[in-house]
Amino acid sequence: MAETLHTQRVFSGIKPSGGLTLGNYLGAIQRFVDMQNTDIETIYCVVDLHAITVWQDPSELRHATRELVAAYVASGLDTSKSIIFNQSQVPAHAELGWIFNCVARMGWMNRMTQFKEKAGKNAEAVSLGLYAYPSLMAADILAYKATHVPVGEDQKQHVELTRDIAAKFNHDFKVPDFFPITEPIIEGASTRVMGLRDGTKKMSKSGASDMDRINMTDSAELIVKKFKKAKSDAEPLPESVEGLKDRPEARNLVNIYASLSGRTSESVIEEYAGAQWGRFKPALADLAVSVLEPISTEMSRLMQDPAEIDKILAEGSAKANAIAQPVLEDVYDIVGFIRGQQWPR
Ligand code: AMP
Ligand code: TRP
Repeated sequence: MAETLHTQRVFSGIKPSGGLTLGNYLGAIQRFVDMQNTDIETIYCVVDLHAITVWQDPSELRHATRELVAAYVASGLDTSKSIIFNQSQVPAHAELGWIFNCVARMGWMNRMTQFKEKAGKNAEAVSLGLYAYPSLMAADILAYKATHVPVGEDQKQHVELTRDIAAKFNHDFKVPDFFPITEPIIEGASTRVMGLRDGTKKMSKSGASDMDRINMTDSAELIVKKFKKAKSDAEPLPESVEGLKDRPEARNLVNIYASLSGRTSESVIEEYAGAQWGRFKPALADLAVSVLEPISTEMSRLMQDPAEIDKILAEGSAKANAIAQPVLEDVYDIVGFIRGQQWPR
């Protein structure tokens, strides 16, 4: 990891919008657990303010928020090692987000490819929040002066925007080094898990067909069925990873196998060189079930006790607030806001 003037701190978040996929697990949650088990402080957020940039039914939002906490904990995040909380319980996110709306430039926001993809032809009808979303994401990260952000490939541009916002704030207010220039951590074989039906598109919560994705709560039978029906090609597995170059579906399945088993794609190819799909797919399905089934069983157990989950969020939010609020107070002073008797809140 790069040297910085700031204490190393990891921050990341996932939206509680609909179910969680194998892409979320391999691209994000599994990496969160890896980083928790280093001696760097780790903060993991359920970004509910982000979720409502597109319509969320309130009771489904509450359910998805709790289910994401259950997924974090069932996957190995531990509240004695990581801060786990939901964004809306720490007001500094929204407040710093506003300040960053006044730092970020329209030209920067207009370049955000995820907005363009999500808004599509419907750009006139999407919420203003969806457009401003990356500036709120910068506030999430910088309210903790986080130095490292583990994310999937699709979030790289947003972390770059965070760096631009930090640099402009430090420069405009003549507070060099106030905010760190955060590094994205995009590593491993699963920075971009692709669909099972279309290996050229990212596996996503909201893709057209449920057969295109593995959900973290899918039953073992369904996982087996989805891998069996996953698109592959007519060739056996190649002798080396270079042979996967123009075979997106094959490459994706090998990468998934590698990430699930904690191995490199090279070592998977070494084992399965020349194998037919009839051998590889069942092995992959078994592996996926062996990893995901204990997690989804534990998730359902945790979901039986929503009060316990809410308690995790309340305690985590208090800890998060203790870090973010003083940063916000410094920002208010730097910007020139007068703070009265109600501070510190
Ligand atoms: P989201 O579900 O959009 O809130 O994404 C949460 C995290 O999961 C982010 O770090 C994403 O980059 C990551 N992620 C989502 N889908 C995928 C995917 N198909 N492959 C890899 N990472 C993903
Ligand atoms: N934008 C991220 C996504 O859609 C979620 C997110 C919000 C996030 N705030 C963050 C990720 C801060 C990392 C750090 O996947």
